[in-house]
Amino acid sequence: HFSEEINVKKILVSRAIFPDVLERLTRYFEVESNQEDRIFTSAELAAKLADKDGVFIAGDRINEAVLAAAPRLRVAANMAVGYNNFDMEAFNRANVLGTNTPDVLNETTADLGWALMMAAARRMSEGERLLRAGKWDRWSYDMLTGSDVYGSTLGVIGMGRIGQAVARRARGFGMRVVYHNRSRVAAEIERELNAEYLSKPALLAEADHVVLVLPYTAESHHTIGAAELALMKRTATITNIARGGIVDDAALIEALRTRQIGAAGLDVFEGEPKLNPGFLDLPNVVLTPHIGSATEATRRAMANLAADNLIAGLGEGPQAGHPPT
Ligand code: DGY
Repeated sequence: HFSEEINVKKILVSRAIFPDVLERLTRYFEVESNQEDRIFTSAELAAKLADKDGVFIAGDRINEAVLAAAPRLRVAANMAVGYNNFDMEAFNRANVLGTNTPDVLNETTADLGWALMMAAARRMSEGERLLRAGKWDRWSYDMLTGSDVYGSTLGVIGMGRIGQAVARRARGFGMRVVYHNRSRVAAEIERELNAEYLSKPALLAEADHVVLVLPYTAESHHTIGAAELALMKRTATITNIARGGIVDDAALIEALRTRQIGAAGLDVFEGEPKLNPGFLDLPNVVLTPHIGSATEATRRAMANLAADNLIAGLGEGPQAGHPPT
């Protein structure tokens, strides 16, 4: 018993999280928390990890240098499905397990994708700005006319779990669904979603509404740049609920400004939380601050899953014979 007590593992929770999830972690670990939600520099994070066995992470970057400063570290549990903040090659070299929170956010994130797509297509932010500015003085036949969603063609780039959830919703809108992915999905999924595989250029030419749902990697950097935007319909919308960097923001700003495409809905940005100021002057873009998974229930599910991953990854929890006290 004594030896077990002095072997209590140490973890860092790098950002503010739900107090009850933090409390749950303290039943297993000696926890250094950050409920004041300071954003650590890379050097601060490295210093805090010097004596830690595990870390609960929400977005902070863990690279070779941070891992080199953390000789005891075994598990980094990301409270996100995307894990481009982890240098996985460095993780493998250091024999550190990285975990993420797949599935629990699929539907919530797909909902936001649709909200942005529809708001962009129907110019909802423009309408609200008009009202808030007190500038609406009459109904008129061509005021804020947008493009239809119902009956149009949806183009999903990245047909993983969230992409499939986006595509599944199209049935109720009578849409044709086309998709592009690194590889075709199983025939039965194509059938269920009534989704047709196209090359990226063909998808961009045919889709009325393009939704980006792919992970950010070296290969997916600037999946959408000037050349790709030039292939799209002048009335088309593009929605990014994946990661900044998948779109070349400067090229998108230019395409929106010159009306090469109709509109965009963006939840993620290159260099966020900073924003290319070019977006702020454009009427035809709907902007949200990385809230794809932001419902109370889904954020709770993500936090609990990340905590479960950390507990299991460090060999604690019921399966290790250490139920919570
Ligand atoms: C995710 O889960 O990847 C979200 O973008 C939150 O970071």
